[in-house]
Amino acid sequence: MKKILITGGAGFIGCHVVRLFVSKYPEYTIFNLDALTYAGNLENLRDVDEAPNYRFVKGDITDETFIYDLFEEHQFDAVIHLAAESHVDRSIMDPLAFVRTNVMGTAVLLNAARRSWERPEGKLFYHVSTDEVYGSLGSEGFFTEETSYDPRSPYSASKASSDHLVSAYHHTYNLPVVISNCSNNYGSYQFPEKLLPLMINNIVHSKPLPVYGKGDNVRDWLWVEDHARAIDVIFHNGRLGETYNIGGFNEWKNIDIVYLLCSIMDRKLGRAEGESARLITFVKDRAGHDKRYAIDATKLNQELGWQPSLQFQEGLEKTVDWYLSNTTWVENVTSGAYTHFYEQQYVQR
Ligand code: NAD
Ligand code: TYD
Repeated sequence: MKKILITGGAGFIGCHVVRLFVSKYPEYTIFNLDALTYAGNLENLRDVDEAPNYRFVKGDITDETFIYDLFEEHQFDAVIHLAAESHVDRSIMDPLAFVRTNVMGTAVLLNAARRSWERPEGKLFYHVSTDEVYGSLGSEGFFTEETSYDPRSPYSASKASSDHLVSAYHHTYNLPVVISNCSNNYGSYQFPEKLLPLMINNIVHSKPLPVYGKGDNVRDWLWVEDHARAIDVIFHNGRLGETYNIGGFNEWKNIDIVYLLCSIMDRKLGRAEGESARLITFVKDRAGHDKRYAIDATKLNQELGWQPSLQFQEGLEKTVDWYLSNTTWVENVTSGAYTHFYEQQYVQR
């Protein structure tokens, strides 16, 4: 009977991890700890919130006393840590918020686990991280688990710091840890400030589609439910102290993805072919914009047998269908002031 603390479970990836663990492992009790920032939404978990093995706890991972008390009260067997500030553009606007949550918050959780687990046998601190810690690639090559860290945005630097703290707790205190570094995720429940849901929402409302720079930056896209499955596999079978890269060998230039999305949406919305693409607007580039990310997920595939389940075109269609059928969710999560905060950032070239 395991007690698992999942942090950030009301966010995009976290809600898929919570859903998977609650439904697949009725013998585990899943505690979802989330501060419910602009990015966290309990509507993301409506379908599991009545499950007998699910509990929600509202709280901030940087609140040391609260976190220590929570560990004391529940004696967790494992932590899957996803809570973070996650958007690069926001990290450029407000870097300290990222240092606070991603660095300090991770340190507080690590310390709570260390204090709570006098006997670390059978315990696990699973840290969910990003491929952005490796920096930016040229036109060739992939990030492997041996690639040196070279973070370039405040977001990736804060995630790199948190990864280093996790490794340091393993080496210094023998804390049982595992880290995974995943490529860009897409799918349902992603807050509409990231590329794909932002573009989908803007196409629906015939608003400009802001493509940064020339749109030739490359990202490697993975279906969020495949990421959740990878976390499940690594959580149960990953080797302690190891890092696993997660990715689907699925690289796309931003502009190509936006064109593909426009054509899918023209069809689904009954618009003339090319109508949505006319909304594409090239805007000032993101400061320090990383050129290309590409993950080599061979280790995860060969050691633990994981592979992605979905082709990109199919995943994109499913994602568009989900956003078109969940317009109330989109309206609810974007009803705050932050929408304006973003729209102010688009400087027309
Ligand atoms: P998200 O922004 O959608 O969700 C983050 C969640 O963390 C939200 O529910 C938010 O309320 C919660 N949170 C934020 N600050 C908190 C705090 N101080 N205390 C408690 N909860 C807090 O993020 P996401 O895209 O789901 O990413 C989840 C994790 O996966 C992050 O650690 C991120 O770095 C990592 N990751 C994301 C991607 C991606 O493509 N989105 C790829 C690789 C790794
Ligand atoms: P994003 O979804 O923010 O993820 P990340 O920066 O973590 O990779 O952005 C994905 C890519 O899309 C990135 O190269 C920046 C670009 N982008 C745009 O061109 N326009 C946008 O409005 C956004 C949000 C992103």
